Amino acid sequence: MVQATPFLLVLSLALVAPSFSSRKCVLTGKWINDLGSNMTIGPMNEKGDFFGNYTTTVTVNKTETRTSPMLGSQHLTKEKSQPTFGFTVHWNFTDSVTVFTGQCFVDELGNEVLKTMWLLRLPENNINDDWKATMVGTNVFTRLHSQK
Ligand code: BTN
Repeated sequence: MVQATPFLLVLSLALVAPSFSSRKCVLTGKWINDLGSNMTIGPMNEKGDFFGNYTTTVTVNKTETRTSPMLGSQHLTKEKSQPTFGFTVHWNFTDSVTVFTGQCFVDELGNEVLKTMWLLRLPENNINDDWKATMVGTNVFTRLHSQK
């Protein structure tokens, strides 16, 4: 019995672990990132295109924010269980725009996580200032579970 316990433990881990990676990562729903920004992604259409909205906690010029629309597309989950995706946020309180690209993963605990990189384009009045107009960074999103 004493020897059977570690064997059963290893066996159950071996059975459970692969199911995490085979679980599908689904983009639709509410997400929060490492800056505290929130986004809601709507349902995919048959091509993998989607709409959503994004509320950022931070801005470049410390302006007052409003929830802004986003438009994106992903590879279809019929073919991929951890799809790559991209989306654009059209900020509606300033003249900048951000594009995000990333992949929807299921981590070792079975949680969905979006690993992304972004480019934020700021408007410049002078073409000579183009060199300083784009910022780059990363964000990690986890699912936002509504509190009851
Ligand atoms: C702006 O300040 O010009 C618009 C808001 C930009 C917010 C950026 S986008 C990348 C990063 N991730 C966030 O959630 N917010 C910031």
